[in-house]
Amino acid sequence: MKKGKIGIFDSGYGGLTVMRSIVDALPDYDYLYLGDNARAPYGNRSFDTVYNYTLECVNWLFDEGCDLVILACNTASAKALRQIQQVDLPKRNDNKRVLGVIRPTTESIGEYSKAGVIGVLGTAGTVASKSYPIEIAKFYPEMIVEQEACPMWVYLVEHNQMNGEGADYFVKQHVDRILARNPKIDTLLLACTHYPLLIKTIKKFVPDSIKLVTQGGIVAEKLKDYLSRHSEIETGLMKGKQRDFVTTDDASTFDLQASMFFGDSISARHIEIGTH
Ligand code: DGL
Repeated sequence: MKKGKIGIFDSGYGGLTVMRSIVDALPDYDYLYLGDNARAPYGNRSFDTVYNYTLECVNWLFDEGCDLVILACNTASAKALRQIQQVDLPKRNDNKRVLGVIRPTTESIGEYSKAGVIGVLGTAGTVASKSYPIEIAKFYPEMIVEQEACPMWVYLVEHNQMNGEGADYFVKQHVDRILARNPKIDTLLLACTHYPLLIKTIKKFVPDSIKLVTQGGIVAEKLKDYLSRHSEIETGLMKGKQRDFVTTDDASTFDLQASMFFGDSISARHIEIGTH
């Protein structure tokens, strides 16, 4: 049987922050990154739209030979993952798998907070889904979780506006709001894979006493662990160290931004998915 790649999906550039950590932790595998930049952001879209877009992208990655797909997007993990795992995958007669980023993050988040009070910064969709408070309660029932939706932050990243007065204004606004909600917060989770790209600006407004947690390292470690426990998946994965990138928007714009975010030079291919 032909061996498969690991697919990594995000609405845009954010998933590259997760891919960076995954590739560093698991360098031997073949990876295919899909950024649905033409339809980003997903964060303010309805449940059905996020589900439909995500499913289209996952199916595209499957058709391109990915056997395991990581939804490196909290919004898609919150709104589409369960239905894909419970309804769409069982209809297929193959061994394809889809994993998200919320579960691995919520399993580990308790290790970061001493006070047991954390702030979750995410997209409107992730926050409204309440996925974080619900999932964290399963692992850390005592933990207090405050949430704040930051609807402009993904736009800042997608449009390369991470620094400057505009970014300062929108970042400060939401950091101030979440910290005002509970003065005991000692940990802020960046629960959107785009947000690490704003980290310099975020740090300007977060006191040093508060820990900032990003997901890339956590997701990579959990994936390593998952592959060590699932040899039936691991042995079916190709190990040619190939990294390919596709975007639903303009490929040369993607290359410029993505290379900066990913740290290596990237030459992406444009693909069409659905109707924009
Ligand atoms: N990076 C995605 C997330 O983690 C993107 C959000 C969006 O497209 O709004 O939620």
